[in-house]
Amino acid sequence: MLKRSGTGIAITGSGSAAPAGILTNDDLAKIVDTSDEWIKSRTGIKNRHLATASESVCQISTVAAQKAISMAQIDAADIDLIILATSTPDDLFGSASKIQNMLGASKAVAFDLTAACSGFVFALVTAAQFIRTGAYQNILVIGGDILSRWVDWSDRSSNILFGDGAGAIVCQATDSGDRLLGFEIYSDGTKNDCLTLAYQGGDRELIDGISIAKGAYQPIWMNGREIYRFAIAKVPEVIEKALFRAGLTADAIDWLILHQANQRIMDAVAERLNIESEKVISNIAEYGNTSAASIPIALDEAVRAGKIRSGDLIAISGFGAGLTWGAAIFQWGDR
Ligand code: ACO
Repeated sequence: MLKRSGTGIAITGSGSAAPAGILTNDDLAKIVDTSDEWIKSRTGIKNRHLATASESVCQISTVAAQKAISMAQIDAADIDLIILATSTPDDLFGSASKIQNMLGASKAVAFDLTAACSGFVFALVTAAQFIRTGAYQNILVIGGDILSRWVDWSDRSSNILFGDGAGAIVCQATDSGDRLLGFEIYSDGTKNDCLTLAYQGGDRELIDGISIAKGAYQPIWMNGREIYRFAIAKVPEVIEKALFRAGLTADAIDWLILHQANQRIMDAVAERLNIESEKVISNIAEYGNTSAASIPIALDEAVRAGKIRSGDLIAISGFGAGLTWGAAIFQWGDR
């Protein structure tokens, strides 16, 4: 068992969940002018899991979190902090507290964190600060998104990409070595327009001289080529920087887990870093881009499949709207 009370970080549990409903590429071809062949060759995606109206970010995130808590062999009541990385909360005031209640994590403080597809990396880095200062011992980091609610289903340049899901990890304080070896996070608001899920409202006059904006959030809009170029340029660079912080080089990495946005992006990044394709964990074919959930779902599946073992060195990198991007290097498990 983990020796507690230190200010080092160990990642001791993972879990994931996705809605049961699956939309295949052939199904998509019934909605817009596209084909299985085009989608597979341009993105690597075959299926995406989509949430029904009776499913929610809170529900799938809670299932993922319960699995992570169970793997870490702690109780929900032991959790000090829950960070939910999401861009699609069930409630704009935040969904983390509802998850806290659903888990019975009565001692925890909970909040949402929004950094789009970089959300999980940003949340892990945030959690690490609370452990390193000695403030908290057990932190649940969740990435959960239901992007299908916000996809323009008539837009073939973006509707092929996205799916729904949730993944979670447990971070624990330890006095036997810090397993988060390096990280770097960035944002560049000058490119904010490249990927948006933005509120748009028109003036509505309440009384003479006082107006408010009345409108709604608009569906996802994306400049796909620009995001592609940004990812290919920035992701290898940020991983190199995180590796530098860790005092490591890419050849030391056992597993590379990138935000699952496009198989071609993953292949190009791995090639740029000289990381063999066998070390690249990909489940994009089954889930598509699940935003903040994509890295923890891929991590959890690889752990449960026995690929990732205790002590393995993992590089993760997220990138997306903001624009935001980041990377973290950590050692899996508590030994
Ligand atoms: N089916 C068939 N044809 C299509 C489709 C489709 N679904 N979509 C576009 N096309 C057509 C275009 O109209 C275009 O035709 P034209 O040459 O006659 O004009 C042609 O295919 C090529 O279009 P491109 O946009 O150049 O295709 P590209 O190879 O760049 O692939 C894609 C598009 C898959 C979107 C790619 O740019 C990409 O993956 N970008 C990154 C997107 C991304 O990762 N976004 C999420 C970031 S994470 C977050 O924060 C949410």
